[in-house]
Amino acid sequence: MQPASEQQPRTSEQEIAMLRRRLADAQRMTALGELMSTTTHEFNNVLMTIINYAKIGMRHKDEPTRDKAFDKILAAGNRAAKITNGILGAARNRSDDFAPTDLAKLVEDTLVLLERELSKYRISVERQLDDVPPAMVNPNQIQQVLLNLLINARQALSQGGLVIVKLVHDRPAGMISLTVRDNGKGIPQDHLPRIFDPYFTTKDGPDETGKGGTGVGLATCRDIIEMHKGKIQVASTVGKGTAFTLKLPVAGTATEQAPVTVRVGIPDRSSEVA
Ligand SMILES: Nc1ncnc2c1ncn2[C@@H]1O[C@H](COP(=O)(O)OP(=O)(O)O)[C@@H](O)[C@H]1O
Ligand SMILES: [Mg+2]
Repeated sequence: MQPASEQQPRTSEQEIAMLRRRLADAQRMTALGELMSTTTHEFNNVLMTIINYAKIGMRHKDEPTRDKAFDKILAAGNRAAKITNGILGAARNRSDDFAPTDLAKLVEDTLVLLERELSKYRISVERQLDDVPPAMVNPNQIQQVLLNLLINARQALSQGGLVIVKLVHDRPAGMISLTVRDNGKGIPQDHLPRIFDPYFTTKDGPDETGKGGTGVGLATCRDIIEMHKGKIQVASTVGKGTAFTLKLPVAGTATEQAPVTVRVGIPDRSSEVA
């Protein structure tokens, strides 16, 4: 006779909790991996610029050439600092704290990470950023959502195109609305109800920059936006393009805006990646 198993069979709730934890881990690892590949690429580009202009400056002793070389080196150095500040912020702020956040600045901090990548794929970015009040969000997580949406937009624009990032204050609703729109290939009607499902993907696997193809991007976005008591909406037409709109709560009244941070407990996300 087989010895009785010492393990109790898992209940379906335990099973679901375990699967959710696994999904959250997969989401976190994918996000970190994509951020690493983005910033490593960008950083390498900056380093090449610095090295090349340093060589030019060494070779050409005349003042105008050296001045130009120093200008380029300084600009590249500043860009490198911006990039590392962005990624260090993401690594440092792994908490679940919400704080009044300037979304226009968050948009810029995110675009700086993808600037080169987007221009390499012949994609231009148009900003339509209204002056909006701060939103009550976890900046790190919203940056993650933005990265996912922008990378999806880039991947939908295989022939190049336009991405519009739009920020509007929806006063009556007390929400800020943030839209990422592309004029790419669009999403077929029958896919629309499934795109937020974990692991739903129409891509063969990660692309040459190591991004996408896992189907966890939009599932992550939806989870994050739900935790913010916000909304994520999609509108798409095949052959015309796609727009994802986030609705995020405005940070309360002037008195509530004091440096108060709200900690939200998320029971099934307890395992942190160091
Ligand atoms: N901007 C977009 N344009 C066209 N299709 C999109 C866009 N964003 C998402 N999709 C579709 O939704 C699917 C799921 O997206 P996502 O969850 O980010 O996973 P992945 O990018 O790994 O495929 C994509 O495979 C694609 O079919
Ligand atoms: Mg994706």
